[in-house]
Amino acid sequence: MEFETKNGHLIWDGCDTVALAEKFGTPLYVFSQTMIEEKCQELQRDFVEKYDKVRVAFASKAFSTLAMLKIIQQQGFSLDVVSDGELYTAIKADFPAEQIEMNGNNKSIEELEMAIDYGVGRIIVDSLQEVDLIAAIAKEKQKVVNILFRITPEVNVTTHSFISTGQKDSKFGIPIDEEILFPQIKKAIDTPEVNFLGFHFHVGSQLFDNQAHLAAVGIALDLVKMVKERYNYVIEELNFGGGFGVRYTDADQPKPFSYFTDPMMKVVLAFCEKESYPQPAVVIEPGRSIVAEAGISLHTIGAIKELPGLRKYVSIDGGMTDNIRPGLYQAEYTGVLANQADQPATETVTVSGKACESTDILVKDIQLPKVEAGDIFATFSTGAYGYSMANNYNKLAIPAVVLTKAGKAEVIVKRQSLDQIIQNEVIPDFLQ
Ligand SMILES: Cc1ncc(COP(=O)(O)O)c(C=O)c1O
Repeated sequence: MEFETKNGHLIWDGCDTVALAEKFGTPLYVFSQTMIEEKCQELQRDFVEKYDKVRVAFASKAFSTLAMLKIIQQQGFSLDVVSDGELYTAIKADFPAEQIEMNGNNKSIEELEMAIDYGVGRIIVDSLQEVDLIAAIAKEKQKVVNILFRITPEVNVTTHSFISTGQKDSKFGIPIDEEILFPQIKKAIDTPEVNFLGFHFHVGSQLFDNQAHLAAVGIALDLVKMVKERYNYVIEELNFGGGFGVRYTDADQPKPFSYFTDPMMKVVLAFCEKESYPQPAVVIEPGRSIVAEAGISLHTIGAIKELPGLRKYVSIDGGMTDNIRPGLYQAEYTGVLANQADQPATETVTVSGKACESTDILVKDIQLPKVEAGDIFATFSTGAYGYSMANNYNKLAIPAVVLTKAGKAEVIVKRQSLDQIIQNEVIPDFLQ
């Protein structure tokens, strides 16, 4: 990993991370606005400005906070939400509802009502009951709702099976089966309360190879053609999901967005040319690739346990409660001692969390300078699915989040207090 140091300290977006840890406490999430904006600018330059009728919808599940959604809004991007909570956060951030699209494999009636009341731009249908549900709500509210179908394109992806989603045996999406998908398409075309726009897929996450995306684009275009032939219906929009890989460790070699988007657009444009088909709008839904590398986590090292000839554990003041990904799907990370960032590595240690689970290991066998209690461990690339998956296991508080911009740092999420952890708890009368 490349990083900047000054006076031996890790510098992040012009800020001294040791000073950040002192000022705001640890554990701490630190997000560089500069780095988020750089990713957005790459998307603007190599996708939005390069092609007609294309959009980026940030997958807010990766990092959904009021401040983050402001940054996304300033870029003119759309937003993907998957729950009432993500939708509520977007609305509270004044995100224009028509630029919001709602995903989710089991949206509740209340969530659908909320989405339709706010007037979200699109609902991505992901179950066989949903068209009827949406139509009934829309009828009652005298609205017409734009929908797409999330399909399972059944392509193979080269990523961890826990984060691959495009295969048939998946809880996500509607299989492209004659008896399953086509009756839904027919219904959508015939139902006046819904405006059937097109198809959506998301093949999986943390991908470095464009083959799965390209195969899925081909499958989606075959469907587009079939819909035209069968129903004389023209698809207006295709959504190719997210999943573009990022660098968690030096073993990861992420590709620029254009490595995925250029070939996908080439296939779409060639299809339109060959079939004399009007170009549909093309949307991508990146989450991790916009925020992962912009975020780091800072932890203070406490207990150190050396098992001679076996392993040296150094424990941090957080762990799977603020970053569950290693425990959840063996995600790998790397980091540095923020207060000795220019020192050579002299020992191999295992950085463990403080939660009561043996899988609460943040980084196994990492080379660091000699570690002492009080050192600050900075984990790289924790910007996506770190804060958003944070939890209160062991009643540990969810850390604060700080946003940095060229040397400035401000809290965008306050640290949870102990009172907040128990604020919804009550002792029933019969226990008094
Ligand atoms: C429908 C959908 N879109 C977009 C994403 C974002 O994926 P990533 O963060 O890997 O870009 C996901 C991730 O789960 C998803 O399910």
